[in-house]
Parts: sequence; C-alpha cells; structure tokens
Amino acid sequence: MTDSTVAIAPDWNALRARFPLLRRQCFMNSCSYGLLSDSVEAAYLEYLADRHAHGSHWDAWIGRYEALRGDVARLLGCTADEIAVTGSASAGINAVASAMTFDQDRDKVVITDLEFPTNAQIWYAQEARGATVERVVANGNTSLLERLADVIDERTRIVAVTHVCYRNGEKLDVAAIAQLARAKGAHVLIDGFQAIGTMPIDMTTLDCDFYVGGTLKYLLSSAGVAFLYARSATTAALQPTATGWFAQEDIGAMDARAHHPAASARRFEGGTPPIPNVYAARAGLAIVEEIGLAAIGERIAGLTASIANHAHAAGIPMATPDEPTRRGAMVALRSHDAPAMVAALHEANIVTSSRDGNVRLSPHFYNEEGDVERVFHAIGCHRALML
Ligand SMILES: Cc1ncc(COP(=O)(O)O)c(C=O)c1O
Repeated sequence: MTDSTVAIAPDWNALRARFPLLRRQCFMNSCSYGLLSDSVEAAYLEYLADRHAHGSHWDAWIGRYEALRGDVARLLGCTADEIAVTGSASAGINAVASAMTFDQDRDKVVITDLEFPTNAQIWYAQEARGATVERVVANGNTSLLERLADVIDERTRIVAVTHVCYRNGEKLDVAAIAQLARAKGAHVLIDGFQAIGTMPIDMTTLDCDFYVGGTLKYLLSSAGVAFLYARSATTAALQPTATGWFAQEDIGAMDARAHHPAASARRFEGGTPPIPNVYAARAGLAIVEEIGLAAIGERIAGLTASIANHAHAAGIPMATPDEPTRRGAMVALRSHDAPAMVAALHEANIVTSSRDGNVRLSPHFYNEEGDVERVFHAIGCHRALML
C-alpha cells in the first residue's frame, strides 16, 4: 500500500444490516451454513425471473457458470483454468481419487483424524482399488506435523488433509504439510471447506496440488456449488475416470463414441452445473470480495480471540488450540452435554451447533462483540452443562 492509498475499514454495521436474520437471532453457526444476505436472495429471485422470461437460457447460464469459475480463481489466486466447479466437495475429491492409481510402489493415502468424514470415506473407498489409508493422530508430545513427517514416505500417493477441522476449529499448517508431501513426491489435497472465506488463502504460496471448498458456509451462498483447484503444473497428467459431458474439451461436440477430456481443470467436472446455485454463489462471493479476505480474517480473529478470552474467564476448557495461529473461524467449547447446551442456547435465540461433545461457536464478519457477550451470558445461565 502506498501513502496515498489508505485502507478504509469496512462499515461492519452496514454489512450486518444486509443479513436480515440478524435482526431476530444471534447467529454463531457459519461453520454449518452461512447467513442469507439481501444480494444472495436477490440473485435467487433473478434466476426465477430469468426462467419466467426465457425458459431455457443456456448461453447466459453457461456464461455465469464460467464467470463463477473466474470469481473462485480470483479468490484463490490462481487461473480460471485451474478451477473445476462441482456440485459438492465430495464430487471434487472423488474425481481426484478416480485419477489416482495405487500400486505396490505408491499405495499409501495419508489422512488425519481431523478430517470431515467425506475426506476419509472417499479414500477408504479406494482401498478396493489398491490404496492403503493411513490415518494420522497426534499423540502425547508428538504433534500432528511430526507424526505426518514420520508417516509420509516414498510409498505415499497422496496426502489429503483438512485446512481447518470441522469438529474443533483447529487450523493445520497446510503449507508445511504440502512441503512434506512434495519432498516425497506425493500429491497433496487440502479440504478447505472450513477455511475458505475466513482468511486470505493463496494458491501461489500454498504449494498444494488440489484445494477443495464450497460456497455454503463462509462464502455465504448455497449448497450445490463447490470447487476444486487443480494446479496445472503438477496435475496435468492426472485423468479422472469419474467424469461426464461437462468434463469434455468441447461440451457441444456431444460425441457419444469417445472421451475427450478438457485439458483444463474442467476435466474434473461431471454433469450439468447447478444453475440456480451458481446465481447465488456469485452474489455471495461478491460480498466476500468487496470486503476483502484480509479484513474478514482480522475481524474473525478478533471475535475468536474474544470467545477464547470469555472461555478462559469462565473456566470453560476449549477443544480448540489456544494459540491464535492454530485456530480457524471456530472455537469449540467442551461440554458434558453439548446437544443440551445447543438447545438451551436456541431457547435464548442463539444459533450454535455441536460436534464430538463440543459446542461450536463460529463467527463470521457479520458478528460483533455484543454477540459474543450474549452467548457467554446465556452459557453462564447453564454453566453446569459445560466442563
Ligand atoms: C471440512 C468439510 N469438508 C467437506 C464438507 C462438505 O462436503 P460436501 O460438499 O461434499 O457435502 C464440509 C461440510 O460440512 C466440511 O466442513
């Protein structure tokens, strides 16, 4: 930034006002589903108006879907050719898995115990194709990174790890993990679903081969749109066998006698894109882009730090690491009965969720300090439910 360009702080109150539910509820559950904004609602309505006006408007719809590819590429700092737009993160991971061969030289798939189930189940499914899954758990004084360094070896085909854990908000040092994988000639896939939209993430510095995410949480839009980044320099030789007509080099060729996959990351796609959700996804991404990930990241870091401080003051243990650099956009609090606490908070008009015996508090930029105070006041009323 030069002296003449002074960063203007986002108007957080004006941004909050764009999410109507916040007028009625305290919402701290963006790790599950991000809130609906005025512009995302308008985008869904625009889709319906378009249907009424045109019936089948494929040229315009495909134009939007290609524009979405560009939006995601800008967000991740890569080229549009390196992005596949998919219907779910699972679809992207499956396409990657289908492109992998597993033989006696390289049969190992390394995951951790922090994975969202889909990023474990898909790899276990590959055991029928010759893969051997090794699930790494931090133990005692040995950190997850040290354990990974022990396990990732010349037999490793791919390391598939979460960026931020959906259960406890732990942020992994994915750049260091990518380096470990690279050093052994293994591919690395990062499941960034709980990270994307909460902090700056740049594919040029994060040296991974694949990065998956979706738009329904911190990207503020819709189920039904996800994406897969595939680094062109390291994945060009991989050909998915889970495929379809939208993965072809020329979709319009309609050639049912052969398979001619796209050279770009579009080869990891499958069938017809989820058009209504594409409208919503572009609108959600536009909000994130307008505010900027650096500002969003700072805002969330302030809120998660405040949650951690309140937890310490109340003597409630966290399942999330205490070091701010090891936290994502979620702080999980240990509870004797997390579902009962979530229900009690719901009675107080506060939306949270539970996993693994923990109460998950996941703020986004539209939360404010008053929300944190409100949550801890309500938790204090049911203190016996917390550890
Ligand atoms: C870390 C993580 N990965 C993946 C998913 C979902 O994947 P999919 O889009 O296949 O449903 C979630 C959603 O809850 C998640 O938190």
